[in-house]
Amino acid sequence: MAKEKTIHTCTECGGTSPRWLGKCPHCGAWNTLIESVAESDAPGKNRYSGARHAGLAAAQPVTPLSAIEATDIARTPSGLDELDRVLGGGIVEGGVVLIGGDPGIGKSTLLLQALDAYQRAGLPTLYVTGEESGAQVALRSRRLGLEGSQVNVLAEIQLEKILATIEATQPAVAVIDSIQTVYSEQLTSAPGSVAQVRECAAHLTRTAKATGVAIVLVGHVTKEGALAGPRVLEHMVDTVLYFEGDTHSSFRLVRAIKNRFGAVNEIGVFAMTEKGLKGVANPSAIFLSQHSEPVPGSCVLVTLEGTRPLLVEIQALVDGGGPSPRRLSVGLERDRLAMLLAVLNRHAGVACADQDVFVNAVGGVRISEPAADLAVMLAITSSLRGKPLPKGFLAFGEVGLAGEVRPAPRGQERLKEAAKLGFRVAVVPKANAPKKPIEGLTIHAVERVEEAMQVVRGLV
Ligand SMILES: Nc1ncnc2c1ncn2[C@@H]1O[C@H](COP(=O)(O)OP(=O)(O)OP(=O)(O)O)[C@@H](O)[C@H]1O
Ligand SMILES: [Mg+2]
Repeated sequence: MAKEKTIHTCTECGGTSPRWLGKCPHCGAWNTLIESVAESDAPGKNRYSGARHAGLAAAQPVTPLSAIEATDIARTPSGLDELDRVLGGGIVEGGVVLIGGDPGIGKSTLLLQALDAYQRAGLPTLYVTGEESGAQVALRSRRLGLEGSQVNVLAEIQLEKILATIEATQPAVAVIDSIQTVYSEQLTSAPGSVAQVRECAAHLTRTAKATGVAIVLVGHVTKEGALAGPRVLEHMVDTVLYFEGDTHSSFRLVRAIKNRFGAVNEIGVFAMTEKGLKGVANPSAIFLSQHSEPVPGSCVLVTLEGTRPLLVEIQALVDGGGPSPRRLSVGLERDRLAMLLAVLNRHAGVACADQDVFVNAVGGVRISEPAADLAVMLAITSSLRGKPLPKGFLAFGEVGLAGEVRPAPRGQERLKEAAKLGFRVAVVPKANAPKKPIEGLTIHAVERVEEAMQVVRGLV
């Protein structure tokens, strides 16, 4: 392939420069020039050519929406139920999935298992490994009990060779493990750089759309937990999945945060075993830690992840701090924690201003739902007072700045699941109180935070 010219584009002003410069010659911003492939003079030679010749191009015929046949998207399930669930039923022809997660969480394991399942179902597959050698992949497949696997493996990191292989072998599903290791000859920057990742992902996406091959890109995550590389990566692909979970526990969650072909916020739950990742069909109780007796600072909530309720234990520790007390939260938003502490202080008279406050969602699960608010507040109060909440207690509900407790969606379902797991007392928002009593569960409906505190004081 002929080497195409590269230019450097400023991310601030869009100005270009033939050379990389520390300072943009147009707007003067520092470190904003990013390498990309230059526009080609030959029409159709690269993806920028359309834009360049837009003014000169002949008008194209357009079609009214009603005249376009809406064909159902054909999904191919992998047979790994939990993975299919987050994908919205299975992979889609020409669909591009980006899957991110911490190192060692199980990305390669899950995808190898999925490819093997597809291959066994008669679909040709391709596993492109840039991080491990073919022998390492073979070793993993042996550990996973995938003897005799017919998955095709390509140990390669050069984009042009990978694209040629995909086009020549026409697999139904191809996995690129990982996008950060792939580099294009067209660019001089190092593999993993913003320019390389963006360019390679764009080429792979175009190939997926042109050939109908479903492509899964594995992405590294930064220390903060976001996908490494350019933010645009998430916009380019059809589906973005995140692996979550504590590498010390065996449970792993795969969450869809974007899906052009299905619902988001659906989660797949897996358990890491010696034989790889096994789906957990009934995950509601896996994030409860096992205390034989209730302990201070612990409160259980029911969160709704996708279509299934999950019971998660929130732990809080409030401890004597110094002049600048720390607020730390794992699995919950820190800003939200600061807000809840302020509401606690103002509306419930619970002051933690001079205390360190640590909050943790057990099992490495991330809770983005505001319905966790009430449980977080009760856990903090329980830790501060050193008094455990009663056995079999749970709470959920969003808390507003005025101290009001707002309802959570699908409250009945949450309560029923809790009752099924043996929970006996619940504090919930008034609007979530069921009309008919739920067997075995005493429900206290509250409208305000201070009311919730009062109820709890009466219970312990
Ligand atoms: N014999 C074993 N028994 C149980 N679990 C194992 C065994 N060997 C490996 N594992 C698990 O598999 C994980 C490695 O998974 P995998 O290589 O798929 O992760 P990854 O997300 O692809 O990591 P990376 O980002 O480094 O590529 C280990 O962290 C460990 O939890
Ligand atoms: Mg890996």
